Amino acid sequence: MRIGVLTSGGDCPGLNAVIRSVVHRGTDVHGDEILGIEDGFLGLIEGRARPLSHDDVTGLLTLGGTILGSARVQRDKIRWAVENSRQLAANLGIDALIAIGGEGTLTAAKLFSDAGLPVVGVPKTIDNDIDATDVTFGFDTAVHVATEAIDRLKTTAESHQRVMVVELMGRHTGWITLTAGMAGGAHGILIPEKPFDIEAVARMIEERFQRGKKFAIIAVAEGAQPLPGTLRFEHGQVDQFGHQTFGGIGTRLAIELENLLGKEARPVILGHTQRGGTPTALDRVLATRFGWHAVEAVHKGAFGHFTALRGTEIHLTPIADAVVQLKTVPEDRWSESEAVL
Ligand code: F6P
Repeated sequence: MRIGVLTSGGDCPGLNAVIRSVVHRGTDVHGDEILGIEDGFLGLIEGRARPLSHDDVTGLLTLGGTILGSARVQRDKIRWAVENSRQLAANLGIDALIAIGGEGTLTAAKLFSDAGLPVVGVPKTIDNDIDATDVTFGFDTAVHVATEAIDRLKTTAESHQRVMVVELMGRHTGWITLTAGMAGGAHGILIPEKPFDIEAVARMIEERFQRGKKFAIIAVAEGAQPLPGTLRFEHGQVDQFGHQTFGGIGTRLAIELENLLGKEARPVILGHTQRGGTPTALDRVLATRFGWHAVEAVHKGAFGHFTALRGTEIHLTPIADAVVQLKTVPEDRWSESEAVL
């Protein structure tokens, strides 16, 4: 078969490991021809692709980013591509498509599949917010980066008796912040699912200093919100791709806490460092398994499905199950963090 593979949406450590795995399984075992489509759905629309051989994927297991490039695409362009999907596939001569991406990509993949294009999805996102899979690759790497940052911030915070506010990625969900916050022993964990009261955060820090502690670390997700009627703060607008932009909650919190507490506070925005660089061992293995199962899915004709991890097993699951809602942090998981807020 001739299988197209594309990576779409924000990049994430482990994408290259999936591409490598698809090429290995497809070419070595099934005698497939793998075509790497460039810049996500944009490459599909513009007919930009190149064959990927075994040699082309040497060294990709440990390499962050995506050798195929990735792009976000406006919704009207996707609509046009869906209407013309058969022609676009014919232009590239592909029999099936493996689309690796987050919620937006899987939503598009479902539209393409409904329109008759044979598509298999592979879920990725550092945010870990895709429903119907226990975890996505990239998440573990992002948590490691964030945890290491918190560990490092502790020593400098203590030297200067400061409050450090570390802003982590997570548009709508607080999985990275919750997990790295717990792993790093942050004293406050603020996530989008649980609007916070700035006065309560300040009180908690004050009490901590009164107990003789010399510093505090607050981990805040970029999409965290103050409780209505407390701190006045607005996130940014929705961008051209339909994504919420953010207003810098970390910086705002640091300024506000400094004012309320009369103690020095510093914001630290980790941003895209959480998405860059080498994937962890866990992410490399998950990405490799997803690639393997995606190729098998193509050969089983399980189109309209995606590779989902449940427990230790990978299940081919309808893409529809992944895109109905985001997987948010449930209350009981947040309570386990024992954040004293
Ligand atoms: O969805 C992954 C993610 O890294 C989010 O955590 C973050 O809000 C967003 O992408 C950033 O997107 P961009 O790379 O377009 O700035």
